[in-house]
Amino acid sequence: SVEKDFYGRKIMITAGPTIEAIDPVRFITNHSSGKMGYAIAEAASKRGASVTLISGPTNLSPPSDVKLVSTSSTLDMYEAVMEHYGEQDIIIKSAAVADYRPNSTVDKKIKKQEGDLTLTLVRNPDILYELGKIKDNKVLVGFAAETDNIIEYAKEKITKKNLDLIVANDITQEGAGFGVDTNIVYLIDSGNNIKKIDKSNKTDIAHQILDKIKECL
Ligand code: PMT
Repeated sequence: SVEKDFYGRKIMITAGPTIEAIDPVRFITNHSSGKMGYAIAEAASKRGASVTLISGPTNLSPPSDVKLVSTSSTLDMYEAVMEHYGEQDIIIKSAAVADYRPNSTVDKKIKKQEGDLTLTLVRNPDILYELGKIKDNKVLVGFAAETDNIIEYAKEKITKKNLDLIVANDITQEGAGFGVDTNIVYLIDSGNNIKKIDKSNKTDIAHQILDKIKECL
């Protein structure tokens, strides 16, 4: 049996992709499967935390004993996160959030026309950045999906988004990042301590992230 070392703690975890509608039949999204975030939700719940899982569309079943809030677009996820933020002790943002959305979604299917079609994308809010601005006594954990300069870019995100910890993954490595059951990550805290976790399944990674968060409490 697992030690209930998070008993009495409230944790909010975001997982999966966001999807941005272009019209009623088309959308923009990314490759997040939700596996990383769901693994953290399950691990935290097993360790006694009360877990709110804010999830974009995935094919996964939510772990039992977790409060699931389903969202679709970045603006939806933003609203759900803000609604549940106040009561949390720890927030972990593993969702892959779209930075841009089509500037207007039309309610009728876009018809094929002569020539090319140009889509204009506008900036979405950065949910994690907004949380960093209002953070009080909470532990705020971000993820960083990088293809190069992993540690340097992740460190920049710690400062810019006022994080306590960042989980950086190199999404170009085999067995890391989107879709797969394993990951390879660096845990970097606000004191610039770096711990590398070699390729492990996402459940093991989840437990190690929680172990590191315990040090921040
Ligand atoms: O779901 P899986 O298939 O298991 O894949 C896992 C994963 C690769 C999605 C996960 O490990 C991961 O890296 N998640 C973060 C992906 C991401 O959007 O990274 P980023 O470097 O673009 O964003 C940095 C942080 O800011 C993230 O915590 C992100 O949730 C947050 N963010 C980003 C943009 C935005 N508009 N709002 C945000 O809150």
